[in-house]
Amino acid sequence: MVTIKTEKEIEYMRESCRIVKETLEFVGKNIRAGMTTKEVDELVYKYITSCGAYPSELGYEGYPASSCVSVNEVVVHGVPGDRIILDGDIVSVDITAEKNGFHGDAARTYLIGNVSEEKKKLVKVTEECFFKAIEGLQAGSPLYDIGYAVQKHAESNGYGVVRALTGHGIGKSMHEDPSVPNVGRRGTGMRLKAGMTICIEPMINMGTHKVVFNSQDGWTVSTADGKPAAHYENTVLITETGVEILTL
Ligand code: MF3
Ligand code: CO
Ligand code: CO
Repeated sequence: MVTIKTEKEIEYMRESCRIVKETLEFVGKNIRAGMTTKEVDELVYKYITSCGAYPSELGYEGYPASSCVSVNEVVVHGVPGDRIILDGDIVSVDITAEKNGFHGDAARTYLIGNVSEEKKKLVKVTEECFFKAIEGLQAGSPLYDIGYAVQKHAESNGYGVVRALTGHGIGKSMHEDPSVPNVGRRGTGMRLKAGMTICIEPMINMGTHKVVFNSQDGWTVSTADGKPAAHYENTVLITETGVEILTL
């Protein structure tokens, strides 16, 4: 179900999203080579709970941690554990926080130490995909204009756009309708409405768009060719005249 938020609900969304934003800033200041992905998760848990919020990935469909920490070839849903973050890695951290019954959701891909130019470019283009997607977006815009913009920018740089996972609506539930794909045909899809809150989250691969799902842990999604991937996500509010990025 697509939900339209009231002014009061939008206030709650703003607060949860601010906590997500601050947590990611805190992670950005502290993440470094030599840490395990589990140690990153501990930072996330401590920060979010210190804000009086709940890290709503924890326990979500049985998910065992407070964050997704995805290194290099892991696209998304990297389960925090013993993997040591190395100099030259790119690490995406994707978190959600719930407060007053509403969720915020965002992800950043961090550069660890001396990162190769080609990986740096992947991360930069992935962020640009998000900003291309929100260009001109407002109430009345066709939903699949988002995917069109992401796909055009990523593919023109020679990258693969992940199709197996998408962005989504968000509010009282972490995942609400509509599904927000990162590929699409311009001018198609439902029309966005003011008061909708959605997560736009390009997942961009250096090589093939194809991904593999880890059947051992049930979560980790990696590139099929083992090449690196980047992820960038914000929760945005659709307004009559544009968007408000709630997690920036
Ligand atoms: N934050 C993720 C998203 O962008 C959801 C992760 S669910 C988890 O939609 F259970 F894997 F944490
Ligand atoms: Co997320
Ligand atoms: Co999301």
